[in-house]
Amino acid sequence: MTEPSARLTPQTLQWTQALGLGPLFVRREVLREQQAQTVPEAAPEVIATPAAAKPVAQPPKPNRPVPPPRPASPIPITDAARLEAIACMDWDELQAGAQACRACKLGSSRHQAVFGSGSTQARWMIIGEAPGAEEDRQGQPFVGAAGQLLDAMLQAIGLDRSADDSERAVYITNVLKCRPPGNRNPEPEEVGQCAPWLERQAALLQPQLILALGRFAAHSLLGSQAPISQLRGQVHEFAGIPVIVSYHPAYLLRNPGDKARVWRDLCFARDLADAAAAKAAATRPD
Ligand code: URA
Repeated sequence: MTEPSARLTPQTLQWTQALGLGPLFVRREVLREQQAQTVPEAAPEVIATPAAAKPVAQPPKPNRPVPPPRPASPIPITDAARLEAIACMDWDELQAGAQACRACKLGSSRHQAVFGSGSTQARWMIIGEAPGAEEDRQGQPFVGAAGQLLDAMLQAIGLDRSADDSERAVYITNVLKCRPPGNRNPEPEEVGQCAPWLERQAALLQPQLILALGRFAAHSLLGSQAPISQLRGQVHEFAGIPVIVSYHPAYLLRNPGDKARVWRDLCFARDLADAAAAKAAATRPD
């Protein structure tokens, strides 16, 4: 079978980009080949009329706005190639890729993608649902009222999102990198398209523990539909990394009576992370 990217000629790339049919994901080796070519390999046949023999630039047709040229996207045109490219990215490439992503419709309604924040040396990865209005404006996860409560929860167990020592640092992100308009629930297609960014974040970070906050994060990570009340208090797994589930801080703002449960979840998570750190220290060569 022909490789999908092998069918992508420089012309196809140009046309699809001019038509706004992004995101266009192209393997790096294909891009390099295209950049090395001075003559397009499949130039359309030109019929030898006087006009065609001497092409002149045509002004754009009235009432047909010409879309602005899109920057050549560094990544995939097919799902398989896209996944493959994302799975090889480093942190900088990943962040730039997520920022340029138009794989679902949220790419055109958001102000910016909210990639994640915190130390890439962190042992804790905290995963929420999706950016809200304030996160979309500031480009940082959990900056609204729920974010303040999250900061307080983290501080209570000795963690701090602005710390960069691995003891106290956390890395915070969301299942979706772009804000669903009107804070509606994320759609399955959006979650599917966004998943490779999160998977690569987890693979690069290799945290000792993931804390999934809320039903939506828990269901997306664990592929389960069980209520939070059932998922709490157990160690689950995502990509080989232990996952603890707790209530979302926004839920807690509405249901402060559940704070004691969240406190138990945090202590459970803290014990698990401490045990993993002690085990790692014991097996580390001197
Ligand atoms: N802000 C986020 O970044 N994520 C959430 O899940 C909620 C608020």
